[in-house]
Amino acid sequence: MKLITTVPTMESCRAHFPALSTERNSKPPVYLDNACTTLAPRQVIDSINEYYLSYPACGGRRSHHWFANEVRDRIEGNDARRIKGSRRLIAEFINASSPEEIIFTSNTTHAINLVALGFNFHPADVVLVSDREHNSNLIPWLRLQENGQIRVDTTAANSDSGFDLDVFEQRLRAGRVRMVSLAYSSNLTGQTLPAREIIEIAHRYGARVLLDGAQTIPHQAVDVQELDADFLAFSLHKMCGPRGVGVLYARRELLIGKGSDRLTPVVLGGGTVADSSYDSFSLLDAPESFESGIQNYPGQIAAGAAIEYLSNLGMAQIAAHELTLNRYLTDELMKRYGDLGWFRIIGPQDAAARGGILSFEVRRPNAVGIADELDRKSNIMIRDGVFCVHSYFNARYGQGWMRPKSHKDHRMIYRVSLYFYNTLEECRAFLLALDEVFKERCYI
Ligand code: ALA
Repeated sequence: MKLITTVPTMESCRAHFPALSTERNSKPPVYLDNACTTLAPRQVIDSINEYYLSYPACGGRRSHHWFANEVRDRIEGNDARRIKGSRRLIAEFINASSPEEIIFTSNTTHAINLVALGFNFHPADVVLVSDREHNSNLIPWLRLQENGQIRVDTTAANSDSGFDLDVFEQRLRAGRVRMVSLAYSSNLTGQTLPAREIIEIAHRYGARVLLDGAQTIPHQAVDVQELDADFLAFSLHKMCGPRGVGVLYARRELLIGKGSDRLTPVVLGGGTVADSSYDSFSLLDAPESFESGIQNYPGQIAAGAAIEYLSNLGMAQIAAHELTLNRYLTDELMKRYGDLGWFRIIGPQDAAARGGILSFEVRRPNAVGIADELDRKSNIMIRDGVFCVHSYFNARYGQGWMRPKSHKDHRMIYRVSLYFYNTLEECRAFLLALDEVFKERCYI
């Protein structure tokens, strides 16, 4: 059957994920919350265990003994031992021109904050974001605005029908935009922006671009040189990797030299310093100047294992598989509930524009609690709520919309988010269980 041509290869991966062979009430888990965090394969878990069992020491420039050298080799590489190292693996994965452009952070949020706090803004500068940003790419900018350091402007260029480059350019033409900071792929709608065109326009007007790639890098091949990207943030835990490890990619010229757009490290201390006296200090070059204190070494090592795992599968293959499943789910949901008036897919209706994400709104009395019910009865794990995009829903539905006066006015948003280890059978199980819940609630 044409629909599932990519499934056999992807399905064989399931054996690598210990969490998928667990059971509750004699039923397997159906994990459809991958935009929140992904499951980890044995290869990643083993690399974390290996660190603690075999060389649980510090990395960086500190110690130079057996264990510390093992840690350093696994993160920074060692050509003589033919170990590439996580930093280089990540650089190659996004085609950065050098591993020195890869800064380890604790997550995407941390990476975005490093740019917000370390970029040399002037009081009249504008930071342009879209009207549907995750809190992690909104609050850091609002905090700077509160402090009088910048002004935040929200462009509505990103609509359900796509990103309007003309509206975007008009906004830049109006002047003063110093930084454009956008979710490369939305955690709400799954839409991926035309980043290359956006960056080209922004650069023409002298603005820098920060892409929040948390929902992009795990799902499709990205080439930062082809994009001409300035900054890119992402998290390893959304791509089969360890929790607590993220990346800030920054173009080399923004990390070194004396240019006015050079990023300043804001969290200083051990590991960042070349020399110090009682009243002065000099810092190491990036990326070390941005990685202060003892780091998450097992996480950084396991990040390399996750990158190798995804690279072996192939990002094109991963994207194709997610789309196959999302197309199937979208078609089935629309066939069943599309005409009923209370069911709506959020964002573009075409699955091809949503990657592995399918968010839907249920506008019925007592619409809350469906995710809990799917979990309790069928081990089906999806997410409900506003997915940290409060601003978008509040603007659209009005403040307090989640606590309506009458249960008749209830609406709730649910999100299914897929990854390569999900199967058509799991999608069918979700559809069946959702149908049962809707029947029990007399929606259908
Ligand atoms: N940002 C993650 C999500 O959307 C946590 O679920």
